[in-house]
Amino acid sequence: MKSLLQINTSLNGSDGLSSVLASEYAARWKARHPGGEVHVRDLAAEPVPHIDAATFAAFGLSPDARTPQQREAVGYSDELIAELKAADVVVLGLPMHNFSIPSVLKAYFDQVARAGVTFRYTEAGPEGLLKGKRAVLVQTRGGRYRDNGTDTQTPYVIGFLNFLGIADVDVVYAEGTAMGAEQLNEAIADARRQIKSLDALAA
Ligand SMILES: Cc1cc2nc3c(=O)[nH]c(=O)nc-3n(C[C@H](O)[C@H](O)[C@H](O)COP(=O)(O)O)c2cc1C
Repeated sequence: MKSLLQINTSLNGSDGLSSVLASEYAARWKARHPGGEVHVRDLAAEPVPHIDAATFAAFGLSPDARTPQQREAVGYSDELIAELKAADVVVLGLPMHNFSIPSVLKAYFDQVARAGVTFRYTEAGPEGLLKGKRAVLVQTRGGRYRDNGTDTQTPYVIGFLNFLGIADVDVVYAEGTAMGAEQLNEAIADARRQIKSLDALAA
């Protein structure tokens, strides 16, 4: 059975524009995959903890060498990774926060990037272990960054996902959301067109 994981990161919860548009993508995907499962993780409502020194050290220890606290911390990271591994498609609701991704998403990335589990280094360089998945970034921004040389967020997120082996990444933009009602409405309509255009991708 196909599975889609929607990860929301907006401070506005499910009402956030990125969450709403990500849900619209998920609904269209579900219409194409009636038997498919949609799972939603809201990182703003349930923030993942930053990894600390003890947790990072525990990632490199065998299970029986970990303290009870370390076992709990690694177990939490394992759960996030299992959820990610189970997904065929990952949809990220992704507002820009201070020229970057929401900090909760960075904390999530730090939990799921695990040497030997989601990536490994080989003599030929790093190899991502989460292969055969697609990701869709649904990006909302108050201003405009796309294609004008100021968008550091998009290459960073694509690069991170590629590093984990998720090579197939589509991007939906809703930009200028804080630049007045007209530009907001245009941004939403344009994002919806972009989402619709992804219907052609069957996965
Ligand atoms: C904490 C915070 C920081 C923000 N920083 C930026 C920024 O650096 N650049 C920008 O264009 N918009 C910025 N915005 C505006 C949001 O990206 C914009 O309102 C977006 O549409 C919010 O999407 P959402 O409704 O999904 O949360 C920021 C918003 C918040 C809450």
